[in-house]
Amino acid sequence: MGGKIMELFENLELSDKRVRAVLVGCGEHATLVMNDAISFLDEVDVVGVCDLNEQRANFAARRFRLDRSWQNIDEMLEKVEADVALVVTVPRLQALLTQKCVEAGLHVYTEKPISTELDDAYSLMEAAKRMKRKVGVAFNKRYALAYQNMKKAIDSDEFGKPGAFIAKFIAGYRNTQTDLLRVGAIHFFDLGRFLIDEIDEVYAYKFEQAMGQHIFAVSAQFNNKCVGSFTLGSTGSWINGYGMETLEVRGDRNMLYVDNGRNFTYQKPAKITGQRSSGTGNTQAVTESQMPAEISRPNYSNMGKFYMRDFYINGNYQGMKEFVKSVINDTEPHITVHDGLMALKIAIAIEKSVDEKRAVKINEIK
Ligand SMILES: NC(=O)c1ccc[n+]([C@@H]2O[C@H](COP(=O)([O-])OP(=O)(O)OC[C@H]3O[C@@H](n4cnc5c(N)ncnc54)[C@H](O)[C@@H]3O)[C@@H](O)[C@H]2O)c1
Repeated sequence: MGGKIMELFENLELSDKRVRAVLVGCGEHATLVMNDAISFLDEVDVVGVCDLNEQRANFAARRFRLDRSWQNIDEMLEKVEADVALVVTVPRLQALLTQKCVEAGLHVYTEKPISTELDDAYSLMEAAKRMKRKVGVAFNKRYALAYQNMKKAIDSDEFGKPGAFIAKFIAGYRNTQTDLLRVGAIHFFDLGRFLIDEIDEVYAYKFEQAMGQHIFAVSAQFNNKCVGSFTLGSTGSWINGYGMETLEVRGDRNMLYVDNGRNFTYQKPAKITGQRSSGTGNTQAVTESQMPAEISRPNYSNMGKFYMRDFYINGNYQGMKEFVKSVINDTEPHITVHDGLMALKIAIAIEKSVDEKRAVKINEIK
């Protein structure tokens, strides 16, 4: 991109370079989140939309002022000239449809999970390499404002070495166990890799209420020796945010906490005021005085601010923008097929640990 040519509004920019995009999949997430976000990317001209469901595809076509929609991806790829595709379909087809786009010569931004099956992910990786096309993955939580705050704090000198990563994600009923681990909870495997390090090993237990209604308790160790604990479930709610998603990272006497993906707390270390010698029999090694916590809460009511839009708070817009920039500037996208594959391997290692009742190394998953 030739740099920012002017600022429209805070965090919203005009662009002097453009890419032509086709949208594959016009379901709920595409319609309510991704197509909203894409309409604010001046870099993108939507030139084709496709969904097996004609009504949904037509709705998207009208939204982007196109005179027709497509129901067949092969036909659209053959007839419409484009540079990139945005693939937002169904988890088990994401990699296959992404690969079709790559083989048609397009760069692709694909929703998570990249696939629910390893073979499809490997095949996509090979195709992207062969075709020299970029594939970005929408692990949008990496760009969510609260998790960005967490990342900055962890990377700061004052935080110390992260010692514990404690994630809880308990959403509503799902159709299968695969939908929980390989589709929903996968965000938290990616956040672990983003915020801490690669995971070395997992040990997991499963509670099953009914098919698709599970809770997994997972212990993990990261390569940098940070310990992890994930409580991942589908016996909660899809709409009650309270208690659904929390993430805590412990540093040296301090901690970072994100609640509901949005509310960020940074408890700074208490001030050490004295030492206690072990000879006194007291189990506390120091005396301390309290330190206040830093708290940041999005102002939901200020809808006139672009960065208070839901797709900005949750990072969907920034992830897509970064990918489009990587296409325009011919750089590597921040989040690649490799990241999609590694997160999928963690989900599969957890399933294996439950089945085989043992600790499983991520590198056992081939
Ligand atoms: N990043 C996130 O937090 C997040 C949130 C929600 C959903 N997602 C992901 O987005 C994707 C879509 O989820 P959704 O909730 O919108 O599902 P959905 O079922 O509402 O939509 C999927 C759409 O894909 C279409 N489709 C299926 N096969 C197709 C094909 N061969 N060609 C064209 N269209 C096809 C379907 O007709 C449907 O309209 C999933 O992969 C999901 O994991 C991500």
